[in-house]
Amino acid sequence: MKIAIGCDHGGISLKDSVIKAITDNGHEVLDFGTYNTESCDYPDYAYRVAQSVLSGEAQRGILLCGTGIGMSIAANKVKGIRCGHVTDVFSAQMTAEHNNANIIAMGGRITDAETAYQIVTTYLAGKFAGGRHQNRLDKVTKLENGEAL
Ligand code: RB5
Repeated sequence: MKIAIGCDHGGISLKDSVIKAITDNGHEVLDFGTYNTESCDYPDYAYRVAQSVLSGEAQRGILLCGTGIGMSIAANKVKGIRCGHVTDVFSAQMTAEHNNANIIAMGGRITDAETAYQIVTTYLAGKFAGGRHQNRLDKVTKLENGEAL
């Protein structure tokens, strides 16, 4: 798979580990920045990664900021994006299997590099389980479209 990655200055500490996990598992990295530790705005990178995933250029995305929260909020504002904010390996597996997350977000100020490596490895190996989870995601899509449940 091609994996789009984006980070701000708060998440860049995890970038090398994320890239290593992607390539060690046989995938390709599309790097949308940032490329240094200068202060920048996380929505700019969430937008670029989201567009790459929605266009089909990338199959999944990984976003990094200080906590992962700002990136996940921004990405989830883009129609069609399901971004899981992940801090542990079990959540990484669940957000692939149950939420069919097309992006995950992590925080460079709360998650260490080794955990981030394991999270990415687990997330990229995860397969959506479908079934009752698809029914629930159909309801999420209705919410996205402003429909009542
Ligand atoms: C930047 O200081 C920080 O606010 C950002 O990286 C992120 O953690 C926001 O949620």
